[in-house]
Amino acid sequence: MNFLLLGLALFFLIFLVMVFGQIILSLMTIGFFYGPYYVGSDQIRIKNILSLAKLTKNDHLIDLGTGDGRIVIAAAQTGARATGIEINPIYYCRARHALKKHHLSPPQAQVIWGDFWEKDLSAYSVVVVYGIGYIMSRLAKKLQKELKPGTKVISVYFKFPDWQMLKQKGDIRYYQIPDSLPKKPIN
Ligand SMILES: C[S@@+](CC[C@H](N)C(=O)[O-])C[C@H]1O[C@@H](n2cnc3c(N)ncnc32)[C@H](O)[C@@H]1O
Repeated sequence: MNFLLLGLALFFLIFLVMVFGQIILSLMTIGFFYGPYYVGSDQIRIKNILSLAKLTKNDHLIDLGTGDGRIVIAAAQTGARATGIEINPIYYCRARHALKKHHLSPPQAQVIWGDFWEKDLSAYSVVVVYGIGYIMSRLAKKLQKELKPGTKVISVYFKFPDWQMLKQKGDIRYYQIPDSLPKKPIN
């Protein structure tokens, strides 16, 4: 009888692990195929991001796809406000844990679990993204629509195809939303 119960409990446990494992893998696969998958920015990149961003206490930075939250932590430690948004629940949990470990909490620093395509970005003065080539055109359109003129946009490695890059440090590229969008020539 005891063996039967033990067998049933074991079967149930394996079943649960398989179901949750499948859900997590599916979420990670969605992230892999439809957006940038996880690669963290190293310390040199983070140093270059901060040096280009020139953050002040009045800035509010958002890291689109924040991974383990390392950019949010580094930005918040300068005194600026920092927010990260992450779609992968595992990295979201890791980022939350990392913020806690660094004694960072809202409003100074926070992480949101969500999809950056769904997020209104108009409140931010600095946007950081470590994306992937094929999203950059679509992302440029979203940023141009939502961000205020003068907002700093920093991209790790990938270029915005139709934007004029203003500065570069290593493979960190710096852009700014212009005061007015280039007008189409009249013909
Ligand atoms: C290349 S990693 C960059 C991590 C971090 N920004 C850094 O530089 O260390 C990209 C991250 O974006 C996340 N991601 C992909 N698509 C996303 C989306 N639509 N919304 C939010 N996060 C997304 C991935 O899960 C991954 O953690």
